[in-house]
Amino acid sequence: MTRADMFMKPENGLLDVEPESRVVTLPTWTNDAIGLKTVLDEHAIVAVTDPRGRITYANEKFCAISGYSREELIGQDYRIINSDHCPKSFFPDLWNTIKQGNPWHGEIKNRDNEGSFYCVATTIVPFLDGHGKPRYFVIIGDDITEQKRLEIRLAEKLRLQQLLAELSAQLVAFPSGQVDGAIREAQHLIVETLGLDRSTLWQVEGDRPGFTLTHYWQRAEWPPLPPHFYAQDKLPWACEKIARGEFICFANIDDLPPEAARDAACFRQYGPKSNLTIPLLADGKVFGALAFALLAKERTWQPDEIADLKLVAQIIGNVVGRQRAENRVEQLGAEMAHAARSTVLGEFTAALAHDLNQPLAATLSNAQAALRFIESGTADPGEIQAILHDIVRDCKRAGGVIHHLRVMLNHAPVDRESCSLNELVREVAEFVNEEMRGQEIELGLALAPALPSVQAASVEVQQVLVNLLINAAQAMKNTSRELRQIRIETHHGEGRATVRIRDHGCGISPERLNSIFNPFYTTKQSGLGMGLAICRRIIEAHGGHIKAENHPDGGAFFSFSLPALSGPEAE
Ligand SMILES: Nc1ncnc2c1ncn2[C@@H]1O[C@H](COP(=O)(O)OP(=O)(O)OP(=O)(O)O)[C@@H](O)[C@H]1O
Ligand SMILES: [Mg+2]
Repeated sequence: MTRADMFMKPENGLLDVEPESRVVTLPTWTNDAIGLKTVLDEHAIVAVTDPRGRITYANEKFCAISGYSREELIGQDYRIINSDHCPKSFFPDLWNTIKQGNPWHGEIKNRDNEGSFYCVATTIVPFLDGHGKPRYFVIIGDDITEQKRLEIRLAEKLRLQQLLAELSAQLVAFPSGQVDGAIREAQHLIVETLGLDRSTLWQVEGDRPGFTLTHYWQRAEWPPLPPHFYAQDKLPWACEKIARGEFICFANIDDLPPEAARDAACFRQYGPKSNLTIPLLADGKVFGALAFALLAKERTWQPDEIADLKLVAQIIGNVVGRQRAENRVEQLGAEMAHAARSTVLGEFTAALAHDLNQPLAATLSNAQAALRFIESGTADPGEIQAILHDIVRDCKRAGGVIHHLRVMLNHAPVDRESCSLNELVREVAEFVNEEMRGQEIELGLALAPALPSVQAASVEVQQVLVNLLINAAQAMKNTSRELRQIRIETHHGEGRATVRIRDHGCGISPERLNSIFNPFYTTKQSGLGMGLAICRRIIEAHGGHIKAENHPDGGAFFSFSLPALSGPEAE
C-alpha cells in the first residue's frame, strides 16, 4: 500500500500525502499526520473521492451537515447531496478543472438527508499520479449557510426598501382611475421581491361586517380565488382580529390557536400555509387589510420584515383610503342628484295635481249644470252652448297645463312670445270671475296704460295669476262681505313690468313670509302647498321676481315683475 493509498483509507484520514504526486509543500509539522487531520476535521467539512468522484472518506462534520451516516456516504458519488440548484454547466466546468489537475474553489448549494439546503464554500484539490492523472480528490468546505441566508435577507431587505421608496413615489401621484392597476402591480412586486406566492387586499364594504376581497396578485400556478370573496363567514377569527386593528402572523397553519379552527380550514382550502395580514386604517378606523402568503411552504416572518411590510400596507392603505373617499363623494353626489330628481319629480306630480284640479273642477260643475238644464227640460240652447264653451276652454287649459309641465320636465325650452301682461290679466279675470262672484268677491283691475310687453309663455303666466287669485280668494273666507275685494294692478319701471294682487284676507304672519314659497308648505287642510312654489318657479324661469308682503291696511300683497321688452305694448 502506498502512502497515498493509506490516505484513501477512511480510517487513516487525509495526511498520508505522497509529496511527489502533487505539488503540495507540507510544513515540517505536517509530519504529525494525526495532529493535522484532527485540526482539519475540527475546522472543516472534509471528504475524499476516488477519480470517478465516489466518496471514500467523509469526516464527522460532513456527516453532520449532510444528515447521512458515514456508511451511507461512502461509495456514493456527490450526487447524493446535489440540490439541483446549480446551473447546468456548473458541475461539468468543475469536473474539467479538477480533472486537469487544477484545484477548484467555489460555493455549492447542497441538500441534506431531509431535503433542507445548506451552502458550503468548497475547495477541491486533485492529487495526481505520476502521469498527471487524478488519483483522488480532497474536498474541504466551510458551512456558509447562515452567511448566505443573511446575504439573501440583506439583499431582500434592500430590494424591499427600494420598493417602498418607489411605491410611495408612484402611488401618491396616481390618478384614482388607475389606482386598481397600480395596487395589483405593487402586490406583484412585493410577492416577487420577497419570494412569496400571493398578496390579497380586503376592504369593508358599506355597513356589512367583515372584509371582501378587492385586489390580489398571485403566481400563475395557483388556482384563482373566488371573486368578491367575503371573508366574514369563512375567516371569522381573522376578521375579528383585523377589525380590532391587530395583525395576523403565522409561519405555519398549525401555529393557529384552537379558536381559529374555521379559519385554519379555510386557509387550508385556499392555500396559505404561512401568512401575514396587516390591518389598513383611515382616521383611526379599520377599513381593510393587506395580506401576504406563502402557499406551499412555511415561512418565518422576521420582525424587521414585518415592519417594512407594515409601511407597504400604510402606503397602499393611503391610496385605497383616498380612492374610497373619492368614491364616497361620488356616491353621495349621485345620491343627492337622485334625491333632487325625486324631489323635482314629486314637485312636478304635485304641480300637475294642483294645476289640473281647478280646470277639472270647473269642467265637472259645468257639465253637471248642463245635465241639470237638460234633465229639467228647460234647457236653453244658448245657455247649453255657453256651458259647453266653458267646458272646452277648461279642457284646453288642462291640456295646456299638462303640456307645459311635460316641457319643463324634459328641460326643453318653453315657447315664449312677446305678450301683454294687461291682456293676460284680463283673460284670467274673465276666467275666474264667475268663481269670484260665487264667493261674493269683487275683482277690480287697474291696468297701467303703456305697459311694456314681456317675453313669456302666456299659459304659464296665466297659471301664476290663477294661483295667486285662488289664494287671495281662499284667504278672504272669513272676511266681511263689504271688504271682499281683490285688486289687480299693473305698472312698470326700471325695465320691468309688474303685476300686484292685493286682497283683504287674513294676511301672512311675518315669520311665514319666507316659507310660503317652499314646495308643500301649506296652512290649509286640503292644500298641497304647491301653488306659490309653482308661481316662483315660473317667474324665476322668466328672469323675474315674485314676493309677498302684508298690506299696512290688512290683507296680503303679492307682486311679480318680469323684464320688459323695449317699447310700450300696444293697448
Ligand atoms: N293671499 C294670501 N293670504 C294669506 N296667506 C296666503 C296667501 N297666499 C298664500 N298664503 C299662505 O301660503 C301658503 C302656501 O300657499 P300655496 O298656494 O303655495 O299653497 P296652498 O294654497 O296652501 O295649497 P295649494 O297647493 O292648493 O295652492 C298657504 O297655505 C297660506 O298659508
Ligand atoms: Mg294655493
